[in-house]
Amino acid sequence: KTVLCVVGARPNFMKIGPVIAGLVAEGLRAPLVHTGQHYDEAMSDQLFRDLGLPHPDVNLEVGSGSHAQQTGQIMQRFEPVLDEFKADAVLVVGDVNSTIACALVAAKKGVAVVHVEAGLRSYDRAMPEEVNRVLTDQISDFLFTTERSAQANLLREGIDPARIHFVGNVMIDSLLAHAERARPAAETLGGAGFAEGYALVTLHRPSNVDQPDTLARLVGCLETMAEKVPVVFPLHPRTRARIEAAGLMSRLDRPNVALLPPVGYLEMLGLMRSAKVVATDSGGLQEETTALGVPCLTVRDNTERPITIAEGTNTLVGTDRDAILAAFDDVLASGGKAGRVPELWDGKAGRRIAAILAERL
Ligand code: UD1
Repeated sequence: KTVLCVVGARPNFMKIGPVIAGLVAEGLRAPLVHTGQHYDEAMSDQLFRDLGLPHPDVNLEVGSGSHAQQTGQIMQRFEPVLDEFKADAVLVVGDVNSTIACALVAAKKGVAVVHVEAGLRSYDRAMPEEVNRVLTDQISDFLFTTERSAQANLLREGIDPARIHFVGNVMIDSLLAHAERARPAAETLGGAGFAEGYALVTLHRPSNVDQPDTLARLVGCLETMAEKVPVVFPLHPRTRARIEAAGLMSRLDRPNVALLPPVGYLEMLGLMRSAKVVATDSGGLQEETTALGVPCLTVRDNTERPITIAEGTNTLVGTDRDAILAAFDDVLASGGKAGRVPELWDGKAGRRIAAILAERL
């Protein structure tokens, strides 16, 4: 049997390795398609190398565009590839435009759709990812979930419970597999003198960086944070462009702020592990900090990953300046929330997925 695996954007790459390894161990064929949604060396190739991923069998090279352009291009270019590989199933991960695009092509051609990281819901339809999640789950035949709350979300949407399998978190499989190879933060920061600890910040959600007033407010928070503790801020290409366009770059040009280009996977693991606190709007970082036991402040009004709050080290702080800074001070003073690692985030999720597919496909 052939399970055609799809990745497109950065947060997909750290989820696919354990799945492919599991499928191959079960004797299934698992060719890899890269849609090319992310294409920069730092956003794609570097992560493939760090994660030891197989070279993609096909790259659709779609690149950037509006949501409609990007999704439509992926669909058009993916269809002949699906025919060529005669796949028995198409496996998609996460919630990016590549996820819904390839799932939709497969569903319309009668090919089984497998969704890894199904059932997460922010209940915020203004998030493009939420639309991708809801629609992908509706047309999936196998829905593999990372936390128990996902099952309830899916049942509410009328999904047949026989399709839902709670298997744990493949991103944590990758984290555990690569933890020993993490690049020490001191090397990445190269003598920046942050030995006493730092805050790691990432921002890239359109809701935070596309509106100049929101962006200015968040940059203002970073300035205040940097007066208390050094701030390490790897910049997503979207974020760099918006900060430059809003004329805010000079406010971050200070000795206590390290602006980095997008960092690789092993660098990010090292930076997270040694941070006093992580402030982020990323979905993946909320889960990775929970697995690592590092306090996380999520700069959003909602999260689709509630277990990171209920059991992990995550706190939802919103985007209000006073709330962010109060939570930040609290972590610096108290050392932050202690958490526990959620159920089945044990490094074996990829194997569980593969075993179910080997039996049922
Ligand atoms: C996408 C995902 C988002 C995920 C994020 C992680 C969707 C709807 N969004 O958002 O869920 O959290 O990836 O990064 O799929 N760009 C580059 N080089 C690249 C890729 C992008 O310069 O390799 C720039 C381009 O200017 C592009 C912009 O970043 O227009 C946004 O890229 P896009 O793929 O549209 O979405 P992301 O914001 O990266």
